[in-house]
Amino acid sequence: MRFKPLVLVSPGVEADNPGLFEEMLGGMADVSFGTFRRGGVVPAEVGEAEAMVLGLEPVDDWILDRAPRLRIVARYGVGYDTVDVEACTRRGIYVTHTPGVLSSAVAELTMGLMLCLSRRLIRADRYVREDWWRPDRGRLQMGMDLNGKVLGIVGLGRIGVEVAARARAFNMKVLYHDVEPKREAERSLGVEYTDLDTLLRSSDFISLHVPLTPRTRGLIGERELKMMKPTAYIINTSRGSVLDEGALCKALKMGWIAGAGLDVFEKEPLQRDSELINMDNVVLTPHIGSYTSETRRAMALMCVENVRAVLEGKRPPNLVPEQKDIIIS
Ligand code: GLV
Repeated sequence: MRFKPLVLVSPGVEADNPGLFEEMLGGMADVSFGTFRRGGVVPAEVGEAEAMVLGLEPVDDWILDRAPRLRIVARYGVGYDTVDVEACTRRGIYVTHTPGVLSSAVAELTMGLMLCLSRRLIRADRYVREDWWRPDRGRLQMGMDLNGKVLGIVGLGRIGVEVAARARAFNMKVLYHDVEPKREAERSLGVEYTDLDTLLRSSDFISLHVPLTPRTRGLIGERELKMMKPTAYIINTSRGSVLDEGALCKALKMGWIAGAGLDVFEKEPLQRDSELINMDNVVLTPHIGSYTSETRRAMALMCVENVRAVLEGKRPPNLVPEQKDIIIS
């Protein structure tokens, strides 16, 4: 017999924040840990959970059918493409996410990938360890300045704006494309709106910061990659499926572009047989955009705030946009 509501927390989320959920929610809820995959084994707690704090577990009718008591899905992250919001809304389940608190961390990683590419940092590190001391060593390929180069930002939302500010500090010229121009950001950051094709043709670096939606899936494919300069680099810290990975591999092999910095992939973890693994004009990181201790803690606290509100019978503060203007009942 359970006297308190049950909150199910994904083990990966707990591992980032050991004990935090128990400490913050234990007074009002039982906290349990478990994960699931579509069609896989479902932990018994799913059937009892009134709240779930989730990483990238897929939430759709299949799991919702098994979670009859659920009142809130608290996504630990800003992107919620893994959650079928409509199915949740239909069942009176709130969906929240963690916008804002991770924007600077993702922007910092974006700049890091850009610097790794422009200064060949990964290669340079390997050179020191393996070659520098050899009398017959070869030469490292020369890098490229960011100073004075053009950065094209696709999606000037919360994260795109943070990237723009950092790029301006590096004295880059910043172009952006979005569904609509952001005049205030243009004034405050000195960035310039262009259509996507102009951005692709004019940029030395292109960075993707759009959410994954039916409209942005495959947004950058063969046609778009062919429009880029052969000396340009593409960086993706948004979602793997925004960039067609097959087309990207072709572009990297054929020299349509100079290289790529990728934190996200169509299928994660990236499999060992992916062509990207053996390419030396790419820098790869394992979806770590928000993976810093400060940011992950801020995200966890935001999830706690959302769960607590719902368990207290209130509307959670960080609803996804689709649920902002509707009553969930
Ligand atoms: C991470 O991928 C997020 O959605 O925040």
